[in-house]
Amino acid sequence: YNDMIMARLFDHAHIVEMAEHAKVPVVNGLTDFNHPCQIMADILTVLEHRKHLDDLKITYVGDGNNIVHSWLSLAMRIPFHFTIACPENYKPDMEMVEKAQKVSKHEISVSHDPIEAVKDADVIYTDVWASMGQKEEAEQRRKDFRGFQVNKDLIKATGVKTYFMHCLP
Ligand code: NVA
Repeated sequence: YNDMIMARLFDHAHIVEMAEHAKVPVVNGLTDFNHPCQIMADILTVLEHRKHLDDLKITYVGDGNNIVHSWLSLAMRIPFHFTIACPENYKPDMEMVEKAQKVSKHEISVSHDPIEAVKDADVIYTDVWASMGQKEEAEQRRKDFRGFQVNKDLIKATGVKTYFMHCLP
């Protein structure tokens, strides 16, 4: 009955399975692995406000989660510098990071020093510290992410005009 399916699911394996069986295109509306439509909309917002994407530096501050994986996918398609500032134990999928580093001619890096990571950032992007399925870890995460809060000091530490973005309502 449908020409396409857009599905917002929990387990990434389920959208892959749905796409295998569907006879129509399946669009990922969010899974625990990535969130491609969100990031495509975000880069369009950057373009609308900054007017161009030349020499763009985006620094993501927070958990190496589904949102980061989509930023990495995008960095393999269009050129921009992308730095992820996260605590040691909250790194994104490092295979994806390495793949993006190989494909992109721009700098893709992981840092554990948010102040250093945001230097010269045109955009600081963040997300919740406890994503879907991690709500019971929220208390611990609040402690682990101390120092990774985006506040006035962090915005100032860019040293340039910076946009602040997040993927939440
Ligand atoms: N990382 C968040 C994204 C929400 C749009 C989550 O998965 O809950």
